[in-house]
Amino acid sequence: MPIIAPSLLSANFLKLEDDCKMLNESKADWFHLDVMDGRFVPNISFGPMLVEFFRKSTHKTCDVHLMIEEPEKYADAFKKAGADILTVHVEACKHLHRNIQQISSLGMKPGVAINPHTPLNTLENILQDIYLVCLMSVNPGFGGQSFISHSYQKISQLKKMIKDRGLNVLIEVDGGVSPSNAKAIVDAGADVLVAGNAVFKAPNPQVAIDTLKAIG
Ligand code: DX5
Ligand code: ZN
Repeated sequence: MPIIAPSLLSANFLKLEDDCKMLNESKADWFHLDVMDGRFVPNISFGPMLVEFFRKSTHKTCDVHLMIEEPEKYADAFKKAGADILTVHVEACKHLHRNIQQISSLGMKPGVAINPHTPLNTLENILQDIYLVCLMSVNPGFGGQSFISHSYQKISQLKKMIKDRGLNVLIEVDGGVSPSNAKAIVDAGADVLVAGNAVFKAPNPQVAIDTLKAIG
């Protein structure tokens, strides 16, 4: 069964308390929190202040996905806000290894995200040091985009890379995941499904979560 990580980016920000309660009562495993700075991606979302509110409203894992430049400047603030997992983009880090060390030494689980065009070999020398790889299956910046089908191949290649090296790194797939493609994504090797629109725009979000959770 995959780990289900609904992305709160697609929640109703005027009713966040209700959406958090719904997730807490659902089979969702993690809260996926998308932080955007308007520089690394062409959109701005929220920062540590809101993460702190999410932290206080759930006992579930807070999985923070940083789509920001210079993430090293904010790692401490996200730790204080209560992030459990902190993921940075390989494209945004000049010193990725140092960034990962910083995240681990602050007591968070480190993740590395890669954009659709970024080859898997950028992960070769960091894979042993991280908790998860976030494979972007859309170009980051917005919820509600279509899944890029080339991602299936990338997921299975990454799965093989991880297996061949005897590692335990989780593969998180982020972008365009829905009940209609989730089985193929899990079959390709995904461990964690991020879903924004497929959950929050569904007629019944808890049923959508149940459907995703029942896969595999
Ligand atoms: C995209 C974000 C995703 C996104 C997922 O930049 O990282 O987490 O919100 O939303 P959907 O599932 O709607 O593609
Ligand atoms: Zn995300």
